[in-house]
Order: sequence, then C-alpha cells, then structure tokens
Amino acid sequence: MGFYENHVLPLIMDVALARLKEDRRELIRQASGNVLEIGMGNGVNLPFYTNSTKQIVALEPCEAVVKKAKRKLRAWADDGTLQLGEESYDLVVGGGEKLQFDDNSFDTIIASLVFCSIPDSTTAAKEAFRVLKPGGKLLFFEHVRSPDQLMSRIQSFVNPFWKVFACGCSLTCDTETVFKEAGFDYKTITKFRNPKMSPPFTAWMIKGQATKPV
Ligand SMILES: C[S@@+](CC[C@H](N)C(=O)[O-])C[C@H]1O[C@@H](n2cnc3c(N)ncnc32)[C@H](O)[C@@H]1O
Repeated sequence: MGFYENHVLPLIMDVALARLKEDRRELIRQASGNVLEIGMGNGVNLPFYTNSTKQIVALEPCEAVVKKAKRKLRAWADDGTLQLGEESYDLVVGGGEKLQFDDNSFDTIIASLVFCSIPDSTTAAKEAFRVLKPGGKLLFFEHVRSPDQLMSRIQSFVNPFWKVFACGCSLTCDTETVFKEAGFDYKTITKFRNPKMSPPFTAWMIKGQATKPV
C-alpha cells in the first residue's frame, strides 16, 4: 500500500464521513458478545461499542491504518471517549476474504461501509458466515447501487474513476444479494438514500440485521 492509501485517503474519509456519527452509534449499539468488525479503517466505530459486548476484534488489511487506529484507541482510552476498557479491543491486520478465525467464533459481525471496498466480496461474505455463530447477527451499513435508473447509470459511469480515487471502493455493489447468497437471513433491512453521505452518488444505502440460521 502506498502513501495515498495509507495516509491521504483515511484523512479524506474522516472528513467525508464525519456526519455519520449517529448512524454509527445506532449500528454499533446493537452489537453483543464477541464481535468481529471487518475493515475497521481508522477505527471510527470503536468508541460506540457498549458493555453489551465482551471482546471486539477489529480487522483491517492495511498495516499503517491499523497502527493509526491503535494510536486513536489509546487516545480515546486516555480521554475517556471509550465506553469499554482498552483491553476489550484487539486490532489486527487482515482481509475479509480469508479470516484467521475458527468456525462459529463470533456473536456479532459488523460490516460498516466495507463490502464496497473488498475486492472479492462474495468470498468475504462466505467467510463472515463461516465465523459467525449460528443465531449470531451480521449488522450492516453499506452503500450500494441506486434503484433509480438515472443514478444507477451515473454510478456506472463514475465507477472506474471513483475506484481509483477511493482505492477500490465500488459504487455499484449489490451487497444485499451478496449477503443472501452467503446464507444470511434478513431480520431487518432498510434501503434508503442517506443525505449525510457525500458525494451524492454514494448515498444509496442498506442497513439492518441478518442472522446465520441455527
Ligand atoms: C470506506 S472504508 C470504511 C472504514 C470503516 N469501516 C468505516 O465505517 O468508516 C473501507 C475500508 O475497507 C478496507 N478494506 C479494503 N479491502 C478490504 C478487504 N479485502 N478486507 C477487509 N477490509 C478491506 C479498507 O482498507 C478501508 O479501511
């Protein structure tokens, strides 16, 4: 990974996604037990975990970004931003397509704005399914292809440029189908346009909860 991916893009993301604080809080407060967060980025969700969770393993393929998240975690622990002790978090380097965990290990998996960036999202969804316990929940908050025909065309047109700018992030994902085909059952799913997402062609989203059948 180069300077842009390691240092510049994470800063751009911090600014562009700063308005999502309440969306993040709403997603993460539903987490419980042992949690795996895939593609945590700078660790922006970490302060929102509550004492319903036991241990949080947060994964990110980019080593420099994991180091940054560890520095942030330390600062948040020091200034009282975290709701849990620092020892509740394990920040590790790794990609979603090959998870280094046993089958049925986690009670909750968090997918927050990440499946758009995983090159092989089908394999990553199957891996998430494998490591989730039966009855466990996948909590997701993902931007996807727009159902609006004109916007969908705009997304297809912009996508090759956007992928370069945003290090592989795709605007045209059908993440709802990817999760379904991996075996997840939807408990709740909301499809909506999130006015807090920018630029506007990233605003179509799905959020909700899916489970691994018992
Ligand atoms: C748009 S950022 C989202 C970060 C964070 N989850 C959030 O909610 O803001 C996408 C993240 O996916 C990560 N990513 C890219 N490829 C990945 C992969 N194969 N497995 C897991 N994460 C990946 C990127 O490094 C980046 O941190």
